[in-house]
Amino acid sequence: MNSSFRSVGILGTGSCLPEKVVTNHDLAKIVDTSHEWIVSRTGIHTRRITDDNTATSDLATNAAKIALERANIKAEDLDLIIVTTVTPDMNFPSTACIVQSNIGAKKAAAFDLEAACSGFLYGISVADQFIKTGAYDNVLVIGAETLSKITNWNDRNTCVLFGDGAGAVVLGPIEEGRGILSTYLGADGEGGKFLTMPAGGSRMPASIQSVEQNLHYIKMDGSEVFKFAVRIMGNAAKKALELCNLRVDDIDYLVPHQANTRIISSAAKRLNLPMEKVYVNLDIYGNMSAASIPVALDEAVSKGEIKKGDNVVLVGFGGGLTWGSCVIKW
Ligand code: ACO
Repeated sequence: MNSSFRSVGILGTGSCLPEKVVTNHDLAKIVDTSHEWIVSRTGIHTRRITDDNTATSDLATNAAKIALERANIKAEDLDLIIVTTVTPDMNFPSTACIVQSNIGAKKAAAFDLEAACSGFLYGISVADQFIKTGAYDNVLVIGAETLSKITNWNDRNTCVLFGDGAGAVVLGPIEEGRGILSTYLGADGEGGKFLTMPAGGSRMPASIQSVEQNLHYIKMDGSEVFKFAVRIMGNAAKKALELCNLRVDDIDYLVPHQANTRIISSAAKRLNLPMEKVYVNLDIYGNMSAASIPVALDEAVSKGEIKKGDNVVLVGFGGGLTWGSCVIKW
């Protein structure tokens, strides 16, 4: 790393989950599935779902307020807000601008960043560049999703997988030797077709036909995404470690994207990392896309499982296809 760069760390974390809990038994009343199938194939028992009046920015705003309080940073002192999401409140204005207004971060620039489930890692990496070069001091990065709004509740292949939620972090300059040690991002547009929401953009604007054909919902080739995920999670974690000259043995804690326990455990196995060092909460929240990693991170920090000085690896994959990883000395 260029020694003239500043060290960048996470100053505070926060999260917000909707109250409503949907169980596998609830889903078995809607589609042809069972609690046993869902648990054995995914590890998911429950997920949280927003009500009709709650949008992504509402969850994002609540998570942001908690992260700011814990970071002891005032909203007026933020320089930049990045919201990573595939479920923005609307195409424009950006959800980041809505959050900026909600929290009163008057001097902050704001934009949305879309890299599906890898979004939070992309957001962290962008924030890192702005802060380490000295361009900005305080950056808020939020991963927030209401995937329930783009889920086809009649499609058993997808509706059992997802949940809603938001996680936020405030980043800023910190003492040398701690904070973000490396970030690594990747993409493979060739695989984009495996995970899409086909309609609602300029390729296929909303029409009566697009609605009738269920094209505003998530479409997924589950087995292709699964194969990609198992391969990329271990590779991406190793790459970020290499970039800061650390080894798998140096990892104190791994916070992976929460899509499927089988994906997480095969990644841990490929890394030769014991599951005691891996944070898993998808059993209660399901896959919250860009919100999964920051919510898991917030929980692990709040429970005291991540401690000062720990080497923490964040790693994720998602639509695009995209992937990312990050090593942080906490
Ligand atoms: N209940 C019962 N049966 C089901 C269900 C269900 N909920 N869903 C699918 N099935 C059936 C299918 O119809 C299929 O039946 P068939 O063989 O008769 O056609 C069979 O189960 C599929 O079985 P498998 O292929 O063995 O299922 P698999 O072990 O691959 O698990 C799963 C499927 C859970 C989707 C897995 O592939 C997976 O987790 N993939 C990755 C998903 C992912 O991470 N997506 C990221 C999206 S995040 C984002 O960017 C928004």
